[in-house]
This record gives sequence, structure tokens and C-alpha cells, in this order.
Amino acid sequence: MEMSAISRVRVLVSSILLASFVFSAVRADEEAVLTLDASSFDEAIEKNPFVVVEFYAPWCGHCKKLAPEYEKAAAVLSKNDPPVILAKVDANDDVNKDIAAKYGVRGFPTLKIFRNEGKNIQDYKGPRDADGIVEYLRKQAGPASAEIKSSEHAESLIGDKKVFIVGLFPEFSGEEYENFLAVAEKLRADYDFGHTLDAKFLPRGDSAAKGPIVRLFKPFDELVVESKDLNVDALESFIEAASMPLVTTFNKDPANHPFLSKFFKGADAKAMLFLNFSSEYFDALKSKYHEIALEYKGKGIRFLIGDLDASQAAFQYFGLNNDQVPVIVLQENDGTKYLKPNVESAQIATWFKEYKDGTLKPFRKSEPIPESNNELVKVVVADSLLDVVQKSGKNVLLEFYAPWCGHCKKLAPILDEVAVSFESDADVIIAKMDATANDVPSDFSVRGYPTLYFSSASGKILQYDGDRTKEDIIDFIKKNKDTRAESDSTAQSDSAKDEL
Ligand SMILES: *[C@@H]1O[C@H](CO)[C@@H](O)[C@H](O)[C@H]1NC(C)=O
Repeated sequence: MEMSAISRVRVLVSSILLASFVFSAVRADEEAVLTLDASSFDEAIEKNPFVVVEFYAPWCGHCKKLAPEYEKAAAVLSKNDPPVILAKVDANDDVNKDIAAKYGVRGFPTLKIFRNEGKNIQDYKGPRDADGIVEYLRKQAGPASAEIKSSEHAESLIGDKKVFIVGLFPEFSGEEYENFLAVAEKLRADYDFGHTLDAKFLPRGDSAAKGPIVRLFKPFDELVVESKDLNVDALESFIEAASMPLVTTFNKDPANHPFLSKFFKGADAKAMLFLNFSSEYFDALKSKYHEIALEYKGKGIRFLIGDLDASQAAFQYFGLNNDQVPVIVLQENDGTKYLKPNVESAQIATWFKEYKDGTLKPFRKSEPIPESNNELVKVVVADSLLDVVQKSGKNVLLEFYAPWCGHCKKLAPILDEVAVSFESDADVIIAKMDATANDVPSDFSVRGYPTLYFSSASGKILQYDGDRTKEDIIDFIKKNKDTRAESDSTAQSDSAKDEL
């Protein structure tokens, strides 16, 4: 593409500005990483075509680990052509809070790439070591799509471990070519792109094809797929759909990780088969599972197969244990789960059919309902929550806690005192649920511990966000509780309280 005279001058000017900017920054504090704050941020982004910003907090351990690597990478990249600026912002400092909020910084460190005077912003998805940072950013700073000029070149770019997308064109011009480059620019953080004039260079597909065609190479399933629709939206949807394996593999191989994060995005129900990849039943189950995945392709279910070795965190999350393996968990977007423990390959098809027919009963992670519940603060589990909170006709203050949470431990004696003060009031129950061992129903939003909710006798649900003092909690309950006369007339006798 010919650069216009004006834009060439602009690039020249910004390069000169940049050179002096970097130079002075290095001299001033002897750091290659540029320190930005609220007063310098906008200017630095506007003046430079490519800036990486690390939002950090001084107390954050991962930030401290990244710092020397980031600095090394900055020193190398300051000499890159075109220059790549590495900058940092202390997002913990009050003066910079607005910038951090503007760019949606939620955790530390968060790295973002600002291009084109800040008009394009993308998340940094590269490695965290100096060499890795340099390699990733050199690629990100270069063209979004590389021209493929030989078979060897194609082979080295495409490889056999990742998704690679090639645009094949009769000439490098026209609307379809421009669309391809626009999509490559937009999705460059997630996929690698190339373009070529000659299909002969490409490792798979019709070598006599002329294009315009987009060919997507992938290390699974059909290995190569094509689309002739080079409309921007169509191309994006094609890439999204085609780069998703029929069955996503979850094991310790990092090459599979990008597919995992894709798997968990989106509104489809997620079916997950967990089993021991080294066991003798693996092949039979896997091939049956693939058949089912093919049958339900595009019908609202995605499929994952996970190795037991890598799945311990998932097991904890879903409340599973090793005795249930091989086990299928199917989770819908609203959190509803279905479970098939000790599944055999002959049962898989029927189970999915029952799911589609709506005849399966959802599965809930729950501790057993306690046999006696004599403590001041009643123990509630997922399986008893409905009875205690909705069907009892009582006013319930419910604490969602985690066993390891310090604030919950501090709150415990206070809740005991609150319970004592309502001991003679049969309409009020103080209760708690271990939210790590029980599924929390969607009526409640638990994002941290402790979380306190109040459900009135008539079923009004309120989150308690007042001070965690005995007095404030008692006042809140008194203010919001329904008295017996207003509450559901089916409310049972006082003895119901003792039976929970
Ligand atoms: C998986 O199966 C293999 C072979 O039977 C066995 O040696 C291994 O201990 C099993 N792994 C787990 C995590 O159960």
C-alpha cells in the first residue's frame, strides 16, 4: 500500500518525538519502562503508535515478579523498528484510579496494548518472561497478516500446534482483501494470519484454487476448512466457529489452553467428560463421546474431555469425587447442572437424549442435611435451603461464608449474639451456609465472603450491606421482618424452628 505524503510525514514526526521521549525517559530515571500517570497518560498514548501499559499495584506479588522481565524487554524493544514503548501506571495510586477504571482494570498486573493513538486497544495475551514479551510484541507491532511467499515460509508460519488463517487472493487489492486485513487486525491477539497469491505454497487444500478464499488451518478435526464469504462479520463468525474443536481437550498440555478459554465463553450448555486418560476404557468412551458431539454440533451444547490428572480444581468446583469417574457434568449458562457419574460408553447417547428431552433432574452440589441443628446459628445446606428460606414462612438472615475466610470468623460470634437476641422470636431464624461446599441458588449473588442476605417471611429478598455489628444487624432485621399476621398463613408452629 502506498503511504500518502501526509501520513509519511506524520510517521516521521512521531518517530522523532518518540526517539527523544524514550531517550529522556531512560536518562531521567534510568528505566526503559516509561512511568505514566494521570497527567502524562493521554499524551503518551496519542503520540506513540504502539504503547504497552502495565497497570500494577505496589503490593502485588505477580507485578514484582514481572517488573525485571518487563524492564529487560523494554530495553530491547526501545530499539525495535517501529518502536515499541513499554509503560507502567501505578493503578493503586488515587490520582490514577480514573485511568484504571476507564480501561476496565480489575486485577494486577493488567497489560494492555494501545495502538493508533489509543483508537485500538487490546489485551496483552503473551508470556511474562523477557524473551517471550519481546517476541510476542515484535509480532504484535508488525503487520497483522504476513505475506506467504514460499512453501517453506508457509510451513514455518502455520506449524501443527495452533490455528492459522490464510487469505488466498488473485491480487492484494479489492474489498475482500481489505476486509481480510481488517479482521486480521481485529483478531490478531487471538489468531495468526497470513495472505498469499499462490495456493501451491499452502500445506493443505486445493493447490489450484485462486481465491478470494479464506483457509483456516487447525491442529484438530478436519485440519483445514474454507470460506468464500469475505464479508467482515461473516469472516469473524467463520473464524470463531471453525477454530473451536468439536471436543475440547483439557489436560496439562499448555497448547490446549487457548481452546479452553474459548470453550467456556458463550451461551451454549457445556458438557464435560472427566476420566483417566491412561485407563483402558479411555478409547471407547472418547470415540463414543465424539460421535455424540458430532450429533449435537451447532445444537446448543459444547463438548470437553478432561484428564483426571488436570481436573482437581474442576472437581472441587463441581463437588465431584474420584469414585464418580468417568463422570459427565453438563452445565447450562444459568448454572443449572446435570450429572452422570460412572458413565459407560453404551449409556452416553441415552443420557444426552434424556437431557434434550428435559427428563433429567438437575444436580446440586450440597453437603448432607445435618441430622441435628441445635446451634444458635442454624446450618443450611443447598438441599435444605428451599425449605428453610422459602417454605418455612420465617424471616431468615442467611450468611454465606467460606471456611477459610477471616472476616467470616470475626462475624461468627456477632451472629451468635444476634441469634440469642431473637431466640424468643419464633419468626426469625439466623442461618449460615458454606458457599464453597454448596451451590448458591441464583436468587443470591455471592461475590465475596461473608455475604449476608435477608429473606422475609413473605419472600422479599434483601442483601444486607450495613455494618457488621450486632446492633445494626438486629435493627435491620427488626425493620424488615414481616410479622406473623402479614406473613403466609401456612406458616407452621413454633416447633418448626427446632426441626431445621
Ligand atoms: C489412571 O490409570 C492408570 C492406569 O490404569 C493408573 O496407573 C493411574 O494411577 C490412574 N490415574 C489416576 C489419577 O487415577
